[in-house]
Amino acid sequence: MPNRPHRDFLAIPDFSTEELHRLFDLADTMSQGRYTKRPLAGKSLAMIFMKSSTRTRVSFEVGAWQLGGHALFLSPRDVQLGRGEPIADTARVLSRYVDGIMIRTFAHAEIEELAEYADVPVINGLTDWLHPCQVLADLLTVRQHVGGWEGKRVAWIGDGNNMANSWINAAYRLGFELVLACPEGYDPDQKLVERARTRAKVTVVRDPKQAAEGAHVVNTDVWASMGQEEEQATRAKAFRGFIVDEGLMKRAAKGAIFLHCLPAHRGEEVAPAVIEGPQSRVWDEAENRLHVQKAIMAVLMGGETLS
Ligand code: CP
Ligand code: NVA
Repeated sequence: MPNRPHRDFLAIPDFSTEELHRLFDLADTMSQGRYTKRPLAGKSLAMIFMKSSTRTRVSFEVGAWQLGGHALFLSPRDVQLGRGEPIADTARVLSRYVDGIMIRTFAHAEIEELAEYADVPVINGLTDWLHPCQVLADLLTVRQHVGGWEGKRVAWIGDGNNMANSWINAAYRLGFELVLACPEGYDPDQKLVERARTRAKVTVVRDPKQAAEGAHVVNTDVWASMGQEEEQATRAKAFRGFIVDEGLMKRAAKGAIFLHCLPAHRGEEVAPAVIEGPQSRVWDEAENRLHVQKAIMAVLMGGETLS
């Protein structure tokens, strides 16, 4: 059913600072089991996955159901998009059936095109450039386990990828200190860094130890993202020394937490002792995908307000 005006969620700055705080409050209420409304009753979410997924798929599908709605899993093997039907046509057709579209794809331009042509909200479930739902879940985890990000230092160790770019966008909106340690040639998006620097202290360094020093949150991700599988060997060389191990965690602040969006490669970007250790919050982080995405769907598709 055409539903204009509507809002999309393609990137963290699509929400204002104030709205983000309220979104986290709503997600927290949901995580505590105190949200009993069913704002998606009678509504459907189409979920297009051009790449694999465990967390995103299950948390969106279960989340939509918990809010009273229904979600459809659409893979390129099954839908005509996979056989070359244009995104613009897919967007207009799906808009006649469903009340929201979540998409995980490659080029960010594809999600922008989908959002341009869709008459229903479009939600970014990961592109090569950004992974905003994940970083909102990470921030909720930071709020729950570190007491928020005010005056805190967040370290990113590894690739300047979609996760790093979304953390930079989060710093832009929320104003915490972010230090990214990336090997040369694997920096995050410089334009995003420059924009974030107008509101937050964002630094890119080459030494993981420097980034981890005094950090309240130590964060990493795989060295080769989906679509970069052929670069695995080259990247393994470039990222040597970028493993988050116990030695690196010792440099972090007392009470620091370790985050990883998962899936993780133990022995590459993270040592088994860290991901399985007392500072790891990765399972809570994965759970929080469900809560933040329910909050996003309730707002974008279910009439829940953030004011
Ligand atoms: N972290 C994350 O997005 O996981 P999936 O690829 O399993 O969805
Ligand atoms: N950077 C990773 C995140 C996976 C959730 C990727 O894009 O594959």
